[in-house]
Amino acid sequence: MKIKYQLWLIFSGLFILVSFTVYMFVSESYERRLQQGYELISITQGSAVLDNLKDTYPFTPNRSIGYLETFSEELNMRLIMLDQDKKVYADSFQELKSNAALNLDILNLDDLPGSLFVETASSAYVQYTLIPFQSGERKGYLLMVEEAEQLFRELKSFQKWMVQILAISLFVFFLISYFVSSWFSKPIRQIIFNLTKITPLKRTFYLKYQRRDEIKELIVAIKNMVEELNRYDERQRRFLSTSSHELKTPLATIQLILENLPYVRENEERYREFVRDLSFQVQKMKIMVEQLLEINRIWDRQLQKEILKAEEIKEYLLQSFQHIARDKNIFLEFELETVDLFVDQDLFLRGLDNLVSNAIRYSSEGRSVRIMMKNIQDKNENKISVCDQGIGIKPEDLPHVLEPFYRSNDASAWNQEGSGLGLTIVKQMVEMHQGRIDIKTGEHGTCIHLFFPKT
Ligand SMILES: Nc1ncnc2c1ncn2[C@@H]1O[C@H](COP(=O)(O)OP(=O)(O)O)[C@@H](O)[C@H]1O
Ligand SMILES: [Mg+2]
Repeated sequence: MKIKYQLWLIFSGLFILVSFTVYMFVSESYERRLQQGYELISITQGSAVLDNLKDTYPFTPNRSIGYLETFSEELNMRLIMLDQDKKVYADSFQELKSNAALNLDILNLDDLPGSLFVETASSAYVQYTLIPFQSGERKGYLLMVEEAEQLFRELKSFQKWMVQILAISLFVFFLISYFVSSWFSKPIRQIIFNLTKITPLKRTFYLKYQRRDEIKELIVAIKNMVEELNRYDERQRRFLSTSSHELKTPLATIQLILENLPYVRENEERYREFVRDLSFQVQKMKIMVEQLLEINRIWDRQLQKEILKAEEIKEYLLQSFQHIARDKNIFLEFELETVDLFVDQDLFLRGLDNLVSNAIRYSSEGRSVRIMMKNIQDKNENKISVCDQGIGIKPEDLPHVLEPFYRSNDASAWNQEGSGLGLTIVKQMVEMHQGRIDIKTGEHGTCIHLFFPKT
């Protein structure tokens, strides 16, 4: 059901509930007030009757009946005198035998003098009033029975009036609450409408909204999301075009070499050189394609985090880099606190691989590469750093080294191999672990620190 109707239903339901309660309360208290008025009148009348009647009790019942008849006609009600046991003493209608017992609720009333209003089986409304009196030593009661149609009519007409008022206000409230509900849910409908207009070709979201509430927050969040999507799209497009461009360069070189190959056939040395260049370019392309595939794979990957011990990391790095480092006369040094990383092993080691291989590649002979692991107590983070004493990164290159395919001129001059994708992979890996990267670099070398949350 639409929010508009849900709100409408809730408002109306609440209103009906409240009006019903108010109706019950007001009509009951009105009835009580009416009855109190009628009770007062009857008690006053009864007291006046008793002034004359009291002396006839209990010894002259015939006189009592005479008085009762007169007053009964005058007041238009039935009057019955009861003795101290609430048995009949005299009846103005002369129907009840003396000493007869009556079965009436009013006789059990504690609060005397008082009235009770009763709806009879023939749906007539009857008022019973009982007044105690004292005649000499003896106690007696005057019971007055009269019809209370007037009270009943007054009550009914008041109730009718109230029902009308409530019905009108209910109608007005229905209308108002409908408009209020519509007004409240309008922004949601607008948001939905604007969202459905978004297409892959036209990805914009705009909605003017003045109030400062959760809907405003929602609109801002959607706007940000759409912008982020656009940025992501733009990045993807750029990545694709750079990738193809980067792949084209070695391909063009390969083509050039192949075209010139027949002309150097006679010259053995040149021929070898050409073949070596050819194989170098092919190797370069192969690495690039592999890394591209890897970047793509990483995004689709479900992280499988497990505990990786410092010693395992050391063992892995020694196995992968010991030979290369020894060939280049570079020392691998480890400073590992006993830290357990909670990471996707495969992904993490591939990232680390890139860092260490950069550190070795961009250092000259005789230098050392240090790999450190630290437990940062107060931040709930683990830190792993790879530091070298190599060529460093120039300040103008620093902001770009994490971008795909970016290679500094220094790096290209220093080392022909390399695709510029290594640090991109590292960045991706770290982001997937909700970690962060910090690069400290200068003329004397580079330190790349990775921070991983402990859990
Ligand atoms: N340890 C390092 N010392 C100096 N420069 C570095 C280091 N690591 C990365 N760089 C710079 O960052 C660039 C990007 O690195 P990377 O993505 O691994 O690509 P590649 O190593 O293939 O060039 C490198 O070309 C180089 O300019
Ligand atoms: Mg690299």
